[in-house]
Amino acid sequence: MGILDGKVALITGAAGGIGRATSKLFIKEGAKGAVMADIWDEMGERTAEELGPNAVYIHTDVSQEADIKKAIDFAIEKFGQLDIVFSNAGNPGPGGTIEDITAEEFDETIAIHLRAAFLCMKYSVPIMKKQGSGCFITTSSVAGFQQGMGSLPYSLSKTGIIQLTRIAAVEFGIFGIRANAIAPGGIATGIFGQGYGLSRESAEKWGELMKQILAWGQPIRRTGLPEDIANAALFLASDSSSFITGETLLVDGGLLAGRIPQDPEENMEIYYKMVNSLDPDDQKIIMNKLQENIAKSMEQLKYMKPEIRKRILKGIQRMDKRRQECLNLLK
Ligand SMILES: NC(=O)c1ccc[n+]([C@@H]2O[C@H](COP(=O)([O-])OP(=O)(O)OC[C@H]3O[C@@H](n4cnc5c(N)ncnc54)[C@H](O)[C@@H]3O)[C@@H](O)[C@H]2O)c1
Repeated sequence: MGILDGKVALITGAAGGIGRATSKLFIKEGAKGAVMADIWDEMGERTAEELGPNAVYIHTDVSQEADIKKAIDFAIEKFGQLDIVFSNAGNPGPGGTIEDITAEEFDETIAIHLRAAFLCMKYSVPIMKKQGSGCFITTSSVAGFQQGMGSLPYSLSKTGIIQLTRIAAVEFGIFGIRANAIAPGGIATGIFGQGYGLSRESAEKWGELMKQILAWGQPIRRTGLPEDIANAALFLASDSSSFITGETLLVDGGLLAGRIPQDPEENMEIYYKMVNSLDPDDQKIIMNKLQENIAKSMEQLKYMKPEIRKRILKGIQRMDKRRQECLNLLK
């Protein structure tokens, strides 16, 4: 007997790291249906096929209201019920500061993360009300709690998702419907490479390489894996969590519990080894992005108070020197 016997789940972002691992686990745990929604058709279709007839893929751009509605209707047509909705699709959002981010980038990121989670609820809740049961899971992030862990619209979305989930828990509780969020820490997936503008395949490879750095970023010294989040989603989808609603479960290896000592120079060395193991074209993409960031930091220096500028310049120069040493070592 599986934990999710007879249940039907809709999972957005199901082709990527966390959504893919969750789809696999839900099927393994007996789900009658896993509707895998994403825009990465090739990976989504391939994974659904591997998982057998209980998993189906549907192209769904979660920034489009009509696509979300279509995916929910599809779940009902195909399986006749909808018990779990995991709003998980996401991207890294734009880089840069408040000054740099355009209004379009802001709106797009909020649409993919926050508005999509709201729309998934809006169109599924009438079905769940009729069933007398249901469960929403949303993907927030440590970036929803703390600045510096994602771009501005990304972090805002992730904070918004925490509050959306609380509001949903309060509104839906009387209908037997629960809503909880998961806030992952650093999880080795393709999302980091996409932030550099790498192709899907290269971003997946970069996600694998990230395991080296992510293993040392938090009190639990191992890499966070998509399966860690899938396990949390399984718990929140199961009857074992039937008295839990409105909660945001941090799955971050203790990242937000407190600061841990880091050796930035050692991290840099590992980082350049990672870059070195990519194809030359991908190396160029990453190095150009880094160069761009350094140039931006240097540009900012001239607006800083002299005593601050001096200190920050020293730091940038030290890191740049180390960067050059690493690069020479690797050539
Ligand atoms: N990996 C991490 O460290 C981390 C940390 C905190 C939160 N998260 C969140 O976890 C979720 C899953 O990310 P992941 O790490 O598995 O990354 P991923 O890139 O491996 O997977 C994300 C998936 O979302 C899909 N997607 C992107 N835009 C979409 C759209 N408009 N419509 C439908 N699908 C779309 C992508 O195609 C991809 O398959 C995201 O919401 C992300 O913000 C990830």
